[in-house]
Amino acid sequence: MVDSTSKKVIVTGGAGYVGSHAALELMRAGHQVTVIDTLERGSAAVIDRLRSQGTIEFIHGDCGDPSILPSALEGMDAVMHFAAYAKIDESVKFPELYEKNNVEVTHQLLESAIDQGVASFMLSSTCAVYGSPSDTTRPVTEESPLSAANPYGQSKIRAENILRTAAEEGRIATGVLRYFNVLGSDEQGVLKEPIEEPRLVSACIQSALGNRETLTVYGTDYDTPDGTAIRDFVHVTDIAGAHLAFMDSIRRGPMRIYNVGCGHGISVRSIIRAVEKAAGHEIPVIEGDPRKGDISAIWADNSRIRSELGWEPRYQDINRMVATSWQAATTD
Ligand SMILES: NC(=O)c1ccc[n+]([C@@H]2O[C@H](COP(=O)([O-])OP(=O)(O)OC[C@H]3O[C@@H](n4cnc5c(N)ncnc54)[C@H](O)[C@@H]3O)[C@@H](O)[C@H]2O)c1
Repeated sequence: MVDSTSKKVIVTGGAGYVGSHAALELMRAGHQVTVIDTLERGSAAVIDRLRSQGTIEFIHGDCGDPSILPSALEGMDAVMHFAAYAKIDESVKFPELYEKNNVEVTHQLLESAIDQGVASFMLSSTCAVYGSPSDTTRPVTEESPLSAANPYGQSKIRAENILRTAAEEGRIATGVLRYFNVLGSDEQGVLKEPIEEPRLVSACIQSALGNRETLTVYGTDYDTPDGTAIRDFVHVTDIAGAHLAFMDSIRRGPMRIYNVGCGHGISVRSIIRAVEKAAGHEIPVIEGDPRKGDISAIWADNSRIRSELGWEPRYQDINRMVATSWQAATTD
C-alpha cells in the first residue's frame, strides 16, 4: 500500500552520480520514483542497482523531449532536475552544448511540468555560479555576487533565472540547490561513486589503486594553511537528504535558493591524506603550478539550509566521507 505522504517524483539524470543517490534515498523514504535519463553519461547498471532496492520506473530518453514529457509528468508531484552536462573544461570548448542541455532543456522540462500541474521543481545548481570570491566574500552566502567564470556556471545561472521567473509569475513552486564539491558513495554499497578524473578524489583513488603513477597537485603556494587550494566537500548522501528536506517544504512564492556544502574548507592535501589513510599507503605526489582560472579557496555559508530546512550534513569528517569513496572503489 502506498503511504499518504508518499510523493511521485521525476528524477532526471537518475542514472548519473548525484541523481541516482537522490533516487535511492527517495525510494528508501517510500516515494515513487521515475527516472528519465539518456544514459549518455549515466549507466543502465545504475538503474539495475536501484531496481534491486524496490520499484522504480525508468524512461530512457531526453528530459527536454516534448514527445515524452506529457505522459512522463502526468500525475507527478515534484521534479528533481539533475540531468545536465557538468564538465567545466568541456563547457569552455563546447559552450553551445551547455546552452542547449543545461538551459534550453531545463526550460522545456519546466514548461511541461507546469502544463501537467506538477507542484514543485528543484534544480541542481553549483558553487561555480559564484566564480572567484574574494577574501572578503568568503564563505559565500546565497546572496554573494554571481560571476561564473565558465560556460558551465553561466548555464546554471541562466537555468536558475528561468525557474525564478516562473516562480515570480506564480506558475509553480521552484527551488535551487547549489552544491559545493560532491564526493562519496552510498554507505550501504548499493551505488558507486564514478572515479573518473578530473575530480580530485577520483584522481587520488586512481593513484592509490596504482592506475596512474603520480598525482599532480596544482598549486602548493596559495595563501592557505598548507599552501594547497581549499574547497567545501559534501557527501552525496547528504545532497540527497537536502533534496528530500526541500521537497517537503517547497511552496509557491519567491524561488528559494540553498547552498549545500559542509560549511568549512578542506585543503587538497587533506583529501590526499584521507585517501592515503583509507588505502593504507602513501600516494606519490608531484607539485605543479596552479591551473589557469583556479581559485585559492571557496566554501559555503550553509546557515540558511540548516535553519530553514533543518538540514545537517551527516558526514562532517573528511576521512569518513572518503572512506565511502574508497569502499565503493574497492568492492563490487
Ligand atoms: N558532481 C558534482 O560535484 C556536482 C557539483 C555541483 C553541481 N552538480 C550538478 O548536479 C547534477 C548531477 O551531476 P552528476 O555529477 O550526477 O552528473 P552525471 O553526469 O553523473 O549525471 C548526469 C546524468 O544526466 C543524464 N543526462 C544529461 N543530459 C540529459 C538529458 N537532456 N536528458 C536526460 N538525461 C540526461 C546523463 O546521462 C547522466 O546520467 C548536474 O546538474 C550538475 O551540474 C554536480
